[in-house]
Amino acid sequence: MQLVEVCTLDDVPVGSGRAFTVGGRRIAIFRVAEHDVYALDDLCSHDEASLSEGDLDTEELCVECPMHGSLFDLRTGKPRTLPAFAPVATYRSEVRDNRVFVEFSD
Ligand code: FES
Repeated sequence: MQLVEVCTLDDVPVGSGRAFTVGGRRIAIFRVAEHDVYALDDLCSHDEASLSEGDLDTEELCVECPMHGSLFDLRTGKPRTLPAFAPVATYRSEVRDNRVFVEFSD
């Protein structure tokens, strides 16, 4: 496992998501509170949509795919609604000072 710095908190305002390319992977970082972020694969499991461009629900901890509307759970990556049925990968993340780190397997 390796912990990789992805961005700063300032890059992702509270209540929003943004995608970053890290080690060839496109990762979506969602910031649900001041120091609380989630990291998922940015590519929807259903089609070619960027989850970071979807509407984020900070109460329900899910994001709505901007293309067909599936709701993805930020904690598990599993879709809560169709048409997507396969999960997207999630990554453990942590915030140190103002920096966001994501853990990747080697
Ligand atoms: S592309 Fe995401 S639900 Fe279809």
